[in-house]
Amino acid sequence: MNAANAQLRLEDSPSRSAEQTELHPTLNRAHVRFIGLGKTYNGQQGPVAALHGIDLAIQRGEVFGIIGRSGAGKSSLIRTINRLEQPSTGRVLIDQVDIGEFDEDRLVALRRRIGMIFQHFNLMSAKTVWQNVELPLKVAGVPKAEREQKVRELLELVGLQGKHKAYPAQLSGGQKQRVGIARALVHDPAILLCDEATSALDPETTQSILGLLREINKRLGLTIILITHEMAVIRDICDRVVVLEHGRIVEQGPVWEVFGNPQHEVSKTLLAPLQHGLPEELQRRLQTQPQSSESAVVLRLQFTGNSNDEPDLAALFSALGGRVRLLQGGVERIQGHALGQLLLAVTGSSLGAEEMRQRASHWAHHAEVLGYVV
Ligand SMILES: Nc1ncnc2c1ncn2[C@@H]1O[C@H](COP(=O)(O)OP(=O)(O)O)[C@@H](O)[C@H]1O
Ligand SMILES: [Mg+2]
Repeated sequence: MNAANAQLRLEDSPSRSAEQTELHPTLNRAHVRFIGLGKTYNGQQGPVAALHGIDLAIQRGEVFGIIGRSGAGKSSLIRTINRLEQPSTGRVLIDQVDIGEFDEDRLVALRRRIGMIFQHFNLMSAKTVWQNVELPLKVAGVPKAEREQKVRELLELVGLQGKHKAYPAQLSGGQKQRVGIARALVHDPAILLCDEATSALDPETTQSILGLLREINKRLGLTIILITHEMAVIRDICDRVVVLEHGRIVEQGPVWEVFGNPQHEVSKTLLAPLQHGLPEELQRRLQTQPQSSESAVVLRLQFTGNSNDEPDLAALFSALGGRVRLLQGGVERIQGHALGQLLLAVTGSSLGAEEMRQRASHWAHHAEVLGYVV
C-alpha cells in the first residue's frame, strides 16, 4: 500500500465517537484525543499501573509539552499515539478516529503519519546520513526518483545538505538529531512525537534543534507532542503543557499560565530551577521583625502574566514611599505574557510593611513581605 492510499484509508475510516464529540467543537477538532486512557504493564514483580484515566485533547498544529518526574508515565502516554504501546483501558482518537482496533495494514499507515524522534537518535551506524533517511522510503516501496527528491529536500530542510555521505559517527549530536528529524518526516507526517529529543544535547545545540522544530511546526503545520525534563524547552517552544504524576494529569494549561503560577506541588518543583529563589546571603540576613528604624522591608512581587502590561516601576516605587532598592529581579516573556519577580528593599517609608504589600499588589499579581534586613 502506498502512502497516499494509507492516508486515505486512515481518514476515511468511520468515527466511533462522532456522536459524542459533535456537541464539543474543540474536542471535535482535536487532533489527538485520549479518553479515559489507562495503561498497566505486566512487570516482573506483578502489574505496574503506568497511566490512569487520562483525558486530554491536543489541537492540530500546536506544540504540546508533557512534563513530569521520571516514571510518571510520559513515554507510555506518547507511545499510545502510534500504538507502540497498547492501552489497557480507554481510547486514543486521532482525527476523531479510534485507533484501538486498527489491523496491521492500518497501523502501518498510521505510523507513517506519525513521526517520532528519540533522545539517542536511533540511527543506523553502518549507513550514511542519506541512507538513514532513505531507508523508510525504501521499505515503503517508494520509487527511486521520488525517494531521491524527498531525501534531498529533507536534508536541506534540516540543514544537512553537505553531509549526505557522512556516517553517524562523524556527526555531532545536533547533526545526528537533524538526521533523526529528517527521517521522521519522510512520509509527510501530521504529527511529530519527541521523547526527550534534546536531552543528550548541549544548551546551544538544543536551541538550534528547537528552532528547527518550531520552523517545521510553522512551515509544515505539524502537530508536535514533546516530552522533556528541560523546562526551558517547554518555555521556549510549547503552546500548552500537561504535568503528569504517578500516571495522572495533575495540571495542564497554556505554558505562560502554568509557568507563571504553577498550582501542583510537582509543577512547582519541576519549575523551581527556572524561578529565582531568594539569594542565600539575603536569606541569612533576613529577620522576621524590624531590628531598628533603619531596617528595610523586603518585599517580593510576582508577575504571573495575567495582564499584558509589564510593571510600571516609577508608579510602584512612588506608591511605596521611601527609598526602594532592587535586590533581585527580572521579567521574561512567555507567549507574550510578562512573567517574573522583583525583590525590593524599602527604607524610610512612612507606610507599614502590610500597607506597602497592599499597595504593591496593585502592580503585581502577588506581593508578600519576606521580612526585614538592616
Ligand atoms: N515495558 C514495561 N514493563 C513494565 N513496566 C514498565 C514498562 N515500561 C514502563 N514501565 C513502568 O511504567 C511507569 C511509567 O514509565 P514511563 O512511561 O517510561 O515513564 P516516564 O517516561 O515518565 O519516565 C514506570 O513505573 C515504569 O517503570
Ligand atoms: Mg520516558
